[in-house]
Amino acid sequence: EAARKGGFAHFMLKEIFEQSDVFQQSFRLAFSHLETSALLRHAHGISVIACGTSYNASLLFRYFVEKECGTPVRVDLASEYRYLSTPEDEVVIAVSQSGETADTLSALKKAAASGCPTIAITNVQGSSITRAADRTIYTGAGPEISVAATKSYMAQVAAFVGLLAGMTCSETSFVECSVGQAIEESLLTDVSEAVSLCVPASTIFYVGRGIFYPVALEGALKMKEISYIHAEGYAAGEIKHGPFALLSEMTPAVAVCLPGDGYHSMLGNLREMKARGTPLIGIGYGDDIDLQDVTDVCIPIPKGDEYAQVAAVTVIMQRIAYYTALALGRDIDKPRNLAKSVTVE
Ligand code: G6P
Repeated sequence: EAARKGGFAHFMLKEIFEQSDVFQQSFRLAFSHLETSALLRHAHGISVIACGTSYNASLLFRYFVEKECGTPVRVDLASEYRYLSTPEDEVVIAVSQSGETADTLSALKKAAASGCPTIAITNVQGSSITRAADRTIYTGAGPEISVAATKSYMAQVAAFVGLLAGMTCSETSFVECSVGQAIEESLLTDVSEAVSLCVPASTIFYVGRGIFYPVALEGALKMKEISYIHAEGYAAGEIKHGPFALLSEMTPAVAVCLPGDGYHSMLGNLREMKARGTPLIGIGYGDDIDLQDVTDVCIPIPKGDEYAQVAAVTVIMQRIAYYTALALGRDIDKPRNLAKSVTVE
């Protein structure tokens, strides 16, 4: 087993380190599906169904497509899909690393039965969802051993960015290159001060706006899965609608704050949290003095486009979760009560 871990202490860490290659590979695979991109480009609406980490990746696709193409994208938890309508003119994408998640499979079957064109995005060739969908895009992340999904999430994000590039007929070479580099750099960034703030926490909030809201949801999911510390991802603007009542020195927040849409609102949200005693871990640009001013710890990411930013922030959050769980002595690759694939509804 030590050999299979390739010198890493855990499969999770090994898989985190594979993500630069995985992104590039999965991006190219998805981009080559030009017919599928064309189908999405001409769709009246797109509906995405998934569970867990795959759901968080799907939420990102919504932000990307609505911004770049204007096509409305609905993203639903597969387990809730049976209670919702299934318009025939929507193209439905089912996203599942394993391709075997029962809720995703039944949601996909419901969509297919309603006459919707269906697409599966999965990491496992020949898996059940590939047989239920009209067409399949493989993410090609390779086998993922750690229960907590890392590289398979990055592969899904890459697949979505690849599809989007096909939908918008964009130039692609710079995407692969900038994202790969952002991941490599973020693998080496020091996160130890952030980990010191997380280890004693009772709850950790992850906050972001826009594309960093789904990224925050995924960061929180990683933390709770492997460290067993309660963590919640929140849209930064919503923190005042409830979580304010919980904020204290025991509830640090990991906040993504990058120049662009919502930057000033985000800084305002951080000041409000700080005033309520929350230790703040900012993830942003290294030369952002305003962010450094309001946060206790500031973790820099390399400057880049939105995809590179998403990838870099994701890697930083995965590593904060990993090292927090390590400091707490958790069974990182096999967290209690969790399964890699859930085949019951
Ligand atoms: C389980 C796994 C998660 C995963 C979810 C959905 O809960 O522990 O890591 O995100 O299932 O799995 P899927 O294979 O459909 O992506």
